[in-house]
Amino acid sequence: MSSPRQRPLAAADRLRRAYGTYAVVTGASDGIGRALAMRLAEAGFGLVLVARRKAVLEALADELEPLTSSRPVVISADLSVPDEIARIDRDTASLDVGLLVAAAGFGTSGPFVDGDLAAELNMIDVNCRALAQLTHIFAHRFAARRRGGIVLMSSLVAFQGVPRAANYAATKAFVQSLAEGLAPELKPLGVDVLASAPGPVMSGFGQRARMAIASGQTPDEVAVGTLNMLGRRTTVRPGFLAKALEASLMLLPRAGRAAMLGRVMAGFTRSA
Ligand SMILES: NC(=O)c1ccc[n+]([C@@H]2O[C@H](COP(=O)([O-])OP(=O)(O)OC[C@H]3O[C@@H](n4cnc5c(N)ncnc54)[C@H](OP(=O)(O)O)[C@@H]3O)[C@@H](O)[C@H]2O)c1
Repeated sequence: MSSPRQRPLAAADRLRRAYGTYAVVTGASDGIGRALAMRLAEAGFGLVLVARRKAVLEALADELEPLTSSRPVVISADLSVPDEIARIDRDTASLDVGLLVAAAGFGTSGPFVDGDLAAELNMIDVNCRALAQLTHIFAHRFAARRRGGIVLMSSLVAFQGVPRAANYAATKAFVQSLAEGLAPELKPLGVDVLASAPGPVMSGFGQRARMAIASGQTPDEVAVGTLNMLGRRTTVRPGFLAKALEASLMLLPRAGRAAMLGRVMAGFTRSA
């Protein structure tokens, strides 16, 4: 849980009142999803923890249980399998879910033509297909109860093509665009949608993507910056680094941003 020096989440009461009672968090076994789950437990939400690694989720549930009114529900699921997502819908049907946090995802790196096509397509399944399927399921449920919140994990790379992470950046462009389109559609139904677009984050992401990310934001910084903006805007750059990187890129034309991020990615992949 957060150390005593960490400040409590400013938006905790607002979020609980606006969305209550349960939050479904995908990617809860690691990194940003885990940090979001911890902050939401601290804010008083019941939790549904989703990822593939069951033992890791059970250990997190042990850790969070004292903070929540009921033991977190653990759902071990591979989100690249559509039937597994239908199971998440069924297994949460009796819960008053008010928040979906879709943080599960992964990246690949290197020249696209040299990559393993199966891994590239699997990434589209997890980052895009599963996220759209879950968003569709829970948007329906939230619209029926006339309130809810949806957090989709976008990225700095969503706003232009990125050489050496071309397909990963394309998956994040999908997420960003989906959030921007859905936010005004769902607002009149009482449902808030937020795209969170961090820069580099120190998590399990770099190792799986084979990117040597030497420094970056902490998952907790991303979690706090994201949750505090839910219901307040459609896109957030959570934390100082994300905002600084946006400021340094925003004056460049789109092709210039792509070239700049291609150089950054070359550095990330050279030593990975
Ligand atoms: N780290 C960064 O630099 C960064 C920057 C911007 C945006 N993001 C985005 O933020 C999100 C979270 O990334 P992170 O940094 O927290 O990465 P992470 O530490 O590697 O965590 C990824 C999470 O996704 C889950 N996951 C991966 N594949 C899955 C699958 N097939 N089915 C179910 N769950 C799966 C993992 O759980 P299991 O392995 O247990 O399944 C894990 O909980 C991602 O969408 C990523 O694209 C990351």
